[in-house]
Amino acid sequence: MAIEDYKQFVFAFLAAVSFGLISIIFVLTWVLHYREGLAWDGGAAEFNWHPVLIVVGFVFLQGIAIIVYRLPWTWKCSKLIMKFAHAGLHLLAFILAVIAFVAVFDFHNAAKIPNMYSLHSWLGLSALLLYSLQLVLGIGLYLIPVAPVQWRAAFMPLHVYSGLFIFTAVIATALMGLTEKLIFALNNPKYKDSPPEATFVNVLGLLLVAFGALILWIATRPHWKRPSEQALLSLLSSSSPEDPAQGPAGPALPRPADGLAGEGAEDLRRRSTKQSDMDD
Ligand code: HEM
Ligand code: HEM
Repeated sequence: MAIEDYKQFVFAFLAAVSFGLISIIFVLTWVLHYREGLAWDGGAAEFNWHPVLIVVGFVFLQGIAIIVYRLPWTWKCSKLIMKFAHAGLHLLAFILAVIAFVAVFDFHNAAKIPNMYSLHSWLGLSALLLYSLQLVLGIGLYLIPVAPVQWRAAFMPLHVYSGLFIFTAVIATALMGLTEKLIFALNNPKYKDSPPEATFVNVLGLLLVAFGALILWIATRPHWKRPSEQALLSLLSSSSPEDPAQGPAGPALPRPADGLAGEGAEDLRRRSTKQSDMDD
């Protein structure tokens, strides 16, 4: 990755992580300061786990899981380790989302509020079901080495598309949830009167959009994709041991300035991107 590219990547990544962490601080401040806090008692404080776990798990962790292969400082790790990191983060996001669902169903049942009547809940459940399918197919195709290489390669574009689609749908659903909750919960003054809580939660919505936009940007830059194993190996073997940039920890792959820059490297990158579809 050329140095300019590397700087842009680090900037986009740090911005995404900052928006994500600030969103988490916002959702916690909302439920702890403006609302009833957190508890597992069938009441409003139990509902509050729903937005908190969704923002931490289904939004933030899922977003980081999506871009984990693209972190250049992980390219010296084996693809298998990165698959475990990607799958593990997605699994954790899934578990937190399931607990968030249990919280809201439990709260509805205890308060005798009907279940699954809103568009928010329909979209939310659809997203969770698609996510679980994506997880099972991901593990079956890419983690357990039973599927033929051709199947893995053929399914990859669908895996990437549906992953980005579900992530986007989750953020859209969260925005609907925030709006619904403000309409239900704010009474005197009402949502339309713009009390401080309403403005605060509106800002949380904007932060989630900014986080999502940055993750989608990072995940769709072709030149930020993890190079194929073959390209990484040839870069590793071409770097000489006397190279002062390598340091004591062995081959410092990839350094921002080396490899995959220039004309020959462009060819290598094209082959590498093609090849990486085969070593998925
Ligand atoms: C229910 C808020 C994110 C899935 C609810 C309800 C509220 C709410 C007020 C009760 C009313 C209703 O059924 O529509 C929020 C807030 C969120 C958020 C503030 C984010 C910060 C999400 C996300 C999903 C989701 C991202 C899934 C992807 C559901 C489901 C229900 C529900 C399935 C239905 C539960 C039932 O019918 O008993 N949410 N939500 N929510 N939410 Fe969310
Ligand atoms: C790549 C989403 C689960 C294996 C991707 C990408 C997305 C994605 C958006 C594109 C990333 C990029 O281009 O850098 C998801 C979602 C999952 C999930 C939403 C869970 C619900 C899994 C699981 C595995 C897996 C369980 C099993 C190991 C892969 C592989 C790639 C990939 C091998 C290609 C990475 C590369 O091009 O270097 N996934 N994924 N995914 N995913 Fe997943």
